[in-house]
Amino acid sequence: MTHTPRDRSQCCQTIATIVISGLSFLLLIQSASPTFALGGAKKSIDGHVVDKEGNGVGGVMVSAIDAEQRKWTSVFTDPNGRFSIEGLRDVPHSLRTRLMGMTDQWLSDVKIGGPAIQIQSEPATGRDLELQRTADSAFSMLAFEHPRDRLNFKMMCSYCHQIGTLGFRTPEEPVDWQTMIRRMDGFGGLYPHTQSTIVQRLMETYKDDAVNRWPAFDPPPPPTGASAAATITMWELDEPLEGSFHDLEIGVDGRVYAVNISKHRMIALDPKTGKQTPYPFPARTYAPHSIETANDGSLWTTMCASGQMVRFDIATEQFEIHSSAEAPKRRGNYPHTLRINPQDPQGLIWYTDAGTNSCFSIHPQTHVVKEYKLLSAGQAVGAGRGEARGVTPYGIDYSPVDGMIWYSKLNANRIGRIDPNAQDGDVKEWNPPFRGPRRLHVAPDGMVWVPGFGSGVFASFNPSTEIWTVYELPNAENQIPYALNVDKEGIVWICGTGNDTINRFDPTSETLTEIRLPTRVSYTREIEFDDEGNVWTSTSGPARHMERGVGAVIKITLPKSLPTEGSIRLRPKTYQGSHEIGNLATAPHVNRPSANAALLAKIDQRTLTKSYLSQPHQQYVDAKMTTLPEPKRSRIGSLWNEFRQSHPQRQRDGEMFVKILDHVATETASPDQPRRFIKKWQHHYFGNAAERLVGRDIEAGKRVFEQATCSRCHAIAGEGSKYGPDLTEVTKRFTGSKLLQQMVNPSTEIHQEFQTQQILLSDGRLLTGLVTEQNDTQLTLIPNLLKPEKSVVVPIAEIEHRQIAKVSSMPVGLLDTFTQQEILDLLAYLQSKHEVQQ
Ligand code: HEC
Ligand code: HEC
Repeated sequence: MTHTPRDRSQCCQTIATIVISGLSFLLLIQSASPTFALGGAKKSIDGHVVDKEGNGVGGVMVSAIDAEQRKWTSVFTDPNGRFSIEGLRDVPHSLRTRLMGMTDQWLSDVKIGGPAIQIQSEPATGRDLELQRTADSAFSMLAFEHPRDRLNFKMMCSYCHQIGTLGFRTPEEPVDWQTMIRRMDGFGGLYPHTQSTIVQRLMETYKDDAVNRWPAFDPPPPPTGASAAATITMWELDEPLEGSFHDLEIGVDGRVYAVNISKHRMIALDPKTGKQTPYPFPARTYAPHSIETANDGSLWTTMCASGQMVRFDIATEQFEIHSSAEAPKRRGNYPHTLRINPQDPQGLIWYTDAGTNSCFSIHPQTHVVKEYKLLSAGQAVGAGRGEARGVTPYGIDYSPVDGMIWYSKLNANRIGRIDPNAQDGDVKEWNPPFRGPRRLHVAPDGMVWVPGFGSGVFASFNPSTEIWTVYELPNAENQIPYALNVDKEGIVWICGTGNDTINRFDPTSETLTEIRLPTRVSYTREIEFDDEGNVWTSTSGPARHMERGVGAVIKITLPKSLPTEGSIRLRPKTYQGSHEIGNLATAPHVNRPSANAALLAKIDQRTLTKSYLSQPHQQYVDAKMTTLPEPKRSRIGSLWNEFRQSHPQRQRDGEMFVKILDHVATETASPDQPRRFIKKWQHHYFGNAAERLVGRDIEAGKRVFEQATCSRCHAIAGEGSKYGPDLTEVTKRFTGSKLLQQMVNPSTEIHQEFQTQQILLSDGRLLTGLVTEQNDTQLTLIPNLLKPEKSVVVPIAEIEHRQIAKVSSMPVGLLDTFTQQEILDLLAYLQSKHEVQQ
């Protein structure tokens, strides 16, 4: 037996479960008990889950898996441990049982309508138990000095993935965490004091054996009653390690359309046949985000990275592309969420743009775009205290009562309302008494329901009384409810984005029912309903963080009448619209020590220059800013933020800003100053600059080669590391833009001798890495090139399947913290070696 150095790799689990039919299980398959021996006609799988003593175990999720359709049908056992899974195709299924606190049991080749099956469950301990920990618990292990810092971290780091899960814990060396976090904090929103300590703290909490020091996972009690009443159908979609679905929509053709934001395609799933059809979005449209059905039955999608609105005609399967901005602008900034009021005779498509302080509508026939300017600082009801500077129009919906358009502003911490009948929209905004209003919805009775992503709450806002009613989710401080939706009956459905659940809230009884989803790391962002009242969602985030390495579309079906037991009663808190809480409701402002306190004190001593005193403040600032390169501008931003946080009483001190500006303008960069994200570079952003390298700074390029860690894997002219190809050789094949493309997108073309291999072992483990040696009996593989000493020897006899991965083992994003100038210098350096050689 060989061991992967990190056998907690997410892929291992994925494959282990895919190859189940080839494995044998420690299961007791007993003959039918008389009560379950039904006639052959019944299309169900029935059984009984028992513990060691033979007592039934309730609340166990039992899933029947139809491998061909990639479809999972899951039910929960009743209090006696009995289950019956109906509506299955007449093909052999695999069966999985799951209950937190118990190990999963797997059975293969289970026949439909066969005798009832008895499955014995075993308590989970040690690593098995640890694997079941939900992200909200893993996140709670990360300590913060102050709730305010926790809020900030949640807002900045958990809107793409859960924190603390197995996949999240994969970086190894400090440098890997560092690279990762710099890439992630591209939006630069972490407080400076958090930025300077976070790598250390993430490592202390999550790296390697840090997990062994956590208190053992304490599994929540098994679901009962209403929380164990659902049938959950799940279809895994798209390619392994690529499938990840931001939003979904039920089309008028009955198919479910889910958008893959990073692969620029949507997958249409026919739930009846399980057939999946991929539709790539047209060329030059990027990042499909949100998808809705327009009143003519076509589907509209916001293309957030390319600033367009795309229409898809279901009947002809044709796409149309429109700018999301008002003419003559040719593209919008970041069209985000869209909604269409089915009662609107014009059928306008309404959407937010997260990069502009505006909402928009586009006419479905004339394609005329209308922009509604939203309010700015200090203009909201209840605004003022702790208002954030970011704006970020976000969720949007229409009121079925009066057709008003409601939206949220994530970072400004507002919700707002547009009157579509007023010329300028007669915009009004309110500040919720919690942090992070994300994707809101208006209920059939006109109440506006809003999830509080940062605070772990959800709330209703009554437009006529302006009263907020706020409910905390259980374990609120570690929850991140991304979206909610309200069904025809007025039931509110809330994403349990941080703990792999969907929550049902009945506003009349104020009870919350938590419904567990079938797989771990199910990051949900949207909830939809079909005509029969079923609830739909999709799972997103990095596919390789997900339990099975691929995302899914999920349908939840509840029985007509729901057991009264199994839900919890929530206690509301109410606030007037003009409340004094501010958006830092759960976190009062404090003076805190600043990492650059000494430097800021020195800067404060500076005298203001004559040229500043002789002109208007803003004019000076604007003129000076335009002369500075981007890294300096962001350094000014972070010093200023730090100053404001350490001197709350001097918050509007414009002169201090100018002193910081002047200081940074003349400061020479210190080499150990942390690098900040600049851009997710693509080679075409450089135009043909990459072809004109004459006169570039070769020495500076050499420094980038070191700083960007290239030298850890590559040799130049035969000197240095050999985990990647010798770059002097490479520059004989690629130069200029082509070479740049290989650097920013290593998977474009993978060097023959350095292909990553995926090796599936007969015990179900999947190893991925570079094969460095091989003979007739064994091969040596390095899973992580940044950690070459951790190689694995694999006996050839244990290899079940072996394939070349389509992904390069060179990390992506290495150059994202470097400027265009630095990258061009690096190119020049690489090519200079080649020229010297010849
Ligand atoms: C805009 C989306 C986004 C945000 C915001 C984000 N991440 Fe990530 N993160 C990703 C993606 C995508 C991956 C998967 C790895 C990859 O694609 O390289 C990832 C992976 C990770 C990993 C695991 C490493 C791995 O190899 O998968 C860590 C650790 C991490 N992120 C930390 C953070 C921290 C800390 C923050 C906040 C500063 C953050 N992330 C914010 C998108 C994001
Ligand atoms: C962790 C190891 C690692 C690091 C760090 C790394 N590379 Fe690579 N690189 C590789 C491997 C392995 C390949 C071969 C696979 C491929 O072609 O994608 C490669 C391929 C390349 C290629 C394409 C070669 C070809 O023939 O297709 C270029 C160019 C390149 N790297 C440049 C760089 C530069 C510049 C940096 C620093 C910004 C860098 N690499 C950092 C491992 C690394």
